[in-house]
Amino acid sequence: MSLGTYKLIPDSFDPIASQRAQNAVTVRLAADVPLGFDATGRLVGMDGPLPPGLGLDRDALARAGFTGERGQSLTLPTAAGATVLVGIGEERCERTGESHRTPADLRDAAAAFARAAHRHPRIALVLGDAFPVDPQYAAQLVTEGVLLARYRYAQLKPHSAHVALRELAIVGAPGGDDGVERGRILAGAACLARDLANTPPSHLTATDLGRIAEALGEQAGVAVETWDLARIIAEGCGGLLGVNAGSVEEPRVIRLDYTPASPNGRRIAFVGKGIMYDSGGISLKPSDPMHFAMKMDMAGAAAVLATMLALPSLDCATAASAYLMCTDNMPSGSAMKLGDVLSIRGGTTVEVKNSDAEGRLVMSDALVLASEREPDAIIDIATLTGAALAALGAHTAAVFGTDQALVERVKRSAERTDESVWQLPLERRYRSQLDSAIADISNMGGKYAGATTAALFLAEFVGGIPWAHLDIAGTMQAEADDSWRTQGATGFGTRLLIDLALNFGVTPPE
Ligand code: BES
Ligand code: MN
Ligand code: ZN
Repeated sequence: MSLGTYKLIPDSFDPIASQRAQNAVTVRLAADVPLGFDATGRLVGMDGPLPPGLGLDRDALARAGFTGERGQSLTLPTAAGATVLVGIGEERCERTGESHRTPADLRDAAAAFARAAHRHPRIALVLGDAFPVDPQYAAQLVTEGVLLARYRYAQLKPHSAHVALRELAIVGAPGGDDGVERGRILAGAACLARDLANTPPSHLTATDLGRIAEALGEQAGVAVETWDLARIIAEGCGGLLGVNAGSVEEPRVIRLDYTPASPNGRRIAFVGKGIMYDSGGISLKPSDPMHFAMKMDMAGAAAVLATMLALPSLDCATAASAYLMCTDNMPSGSAMKLGDVLSIRGGTTVEVKNSDAEGRLVMSDALVLASEREPDAIIDIATLTGAALAALGAHTAAVFGTDQALVERVKRSAERTDESVWQLPLERRYRSQLDSAIADISNMGGKYAGATTAALFLAEFVGGIPWAHLDIAGTMQAEADDSWRTQGATGFGTRLLIDLALNFGVTPPE
């Protein structure tokens, strides 16, 4: 009896159902609010004129609690549905005279509008000239913000009252069609990653993810190769095998390759942590809410998969390859024991001092695999340490790297996509915490700087290739709806990695 049978998972279960829902949304550009739309959004600052025809002045709005500050919205019922006022703050900095309003603010305002209008399937946002952003980019940001905010993981909640978005009209972004298309691709990719991370662990095994990657790769024009247990043994991936040892499910390595039609000559490699469920193994986690979030311990792999699949449609000129390291981490009679020594691909031996520090074990095999092909850069993304969550919270991911120019690229992509990162030091003086009496290295550091010691462990395996590491343990999920983040899996890193690949040919980085 397979787990699937025991859980009564129907064959029709679709782990990536939001993709179809999102493809069904029409996004169009309009000169005026089209007839038949039930909610119209208006961007309102703290100063300047109010939208015409409101029939209310600032005092009346203020009495309703709306002053135009960022993050505020006010829904006014109309005969057709609703007018939603969305606060966008002050226009200019008093000191410099420069606009306060950033592209990220426009994405946020669009998301706030889409949330306030959550009861309405047909919504129109009037842009006006509040943001110093060209129409293409504005159309992209609005499409992204709205689609990300209206995402719901509803596959297993068929009776939910959620109103799906059917149509979005963007008023005032003439000629922005390419921007709409880009926004759709970016939001679609992030929502694919969200779907995969939100899916319950028994609904999505490593084998399932391999099949999904193969099917989607074929559609998108990305080469996919899935390694089964025998191949993983033959390739010498002892880290992945050790973590998989306690599981009844087979592990998978999913390798993806994207070859651009018009290459810029640069090659980037991605590595994603794909722990389908992290129980901690023999070092079993306590049964607290953090434990049941561990179905999302494959959020890094999901972000990389979604990134790779988006590159062809964006005509990315950078060649990209990826390794997703997929297994669950389970306790059982066959599980790896504390004190066991694993041989990572390439021969480095690791003493396992804590089976819950499994991410670095599977990632190290992949970093060796990636470095063997000598790409220009390796970027890995992993829900690696509770320490990253403790240090930076749920909004900001930790970035580490051996190459500052690459880290700067990551930071710029983070800014453009509003997927915030903060660099932490790869402090070499902590390396001795990973010393082992009987193996080359141990998988556990000391009490402090846990995100850094995990990164130092990974750094051992990149073989001198410029490398950056994103620890997304904090940012993988949102506790509540909040601008473009929707409660549950955030898809964090997907848009960032896409942006990084797209701009990787630009030198110097901008
Ligand atoms: N997947 C967890 C890290 C994690 C924690 C992700 C919270 C998301 C939210 C990882 O495998 C883990 O268990 N890390 C341990 C490492 C420790 C045993 C050295 C941790 O951070 O406690
Ligand atoms: Mn763990
Ligand atoms: Zn983990």
